[in-house]
Amino acid sequence: MIYVAPSLFAADFANLEASVKRVTDAGANYLHLDVMDGAFVPNISFGAPVIAALRHHSKLFFDVHLMINDPIRYIDDFVKAGADIITFHLESCSDPAAVIRAIREREVRCGLAISPATPVERLLPYLPDIQMALIMTVVPGFGGQAFMPEMLDKVREVRRVADRDHLKLDIEVDGGLTADNVGQATAAGANVIVAGSAIFKAKKPKMTIGMMRSAAMMNPYKG
Ligand code: DX5
Ligand code: ZN
Repeated sequence: MIYVAPSLFAADFANLEASVKRVTDAGANYLHLDVMDGAFVPNISFGAPVIAALRHHSKLFFDVHLMINDPIRYIDDFVKAGADIITFHLESCSDPAAVIRAIREREVRCGLAISPATPVERLLPYLPDIQMALIMTVVPGFGGQAFMPEMLDKVREVRRVADRDHLKLDIEVDGGLTADNVGQATAAGANVIVAGSAIFKAKKPKMTIGMMRSAAMMNPYKG
């Protein structure tokens, strides 16, 4: 199953409720929520209070992407805010296993992300303990950057290992995804597609999501 996850970071921040409704009506599966702290990444977005406020207005699956240092400090806040999955960065903490435990103990799904400079080998040992691997296809911190196709080797490797070890794992790609390159990502083994600018800046987001889905269907992972 392919999940399309519009990133709210590209929405009109003065009209968040309407923005969420717009992508819901357009057929989104997830709402991708980018949390940036101005320290792990050189940009600041929004935090748990904004997510909690939106939770009252949306039934979408809330896909929270933490780009913050020492994420363990805030896991409770994001669980209470209504996150369905919390994804944190391997580079953002000294003990990723402890963060995974903290998320799993609260019965929320757990994702683990790696930035472009991080080798995929560092992610592999954690795959049995997480539900989703996030392979960044841009340097995190900003929307609207160009997709890095060379990151798809990481997607292929994670999918190969997950299949080999019979792991039920989602693989998310995030950064620069459009209807033109989504097929490359799904063919490599990704099944959760984040798109900020491509969906929120589209005049007809329903058409964009539809084009992304057909590109995904025409380019399945073949093993
Ligand atoms: C980048 C964020 C992305 C970003 C995606 O740090 O994690 O989710 O908002 O935006 P686009 O699709 O515009 O690259
Ligand atoms: Zn993101």
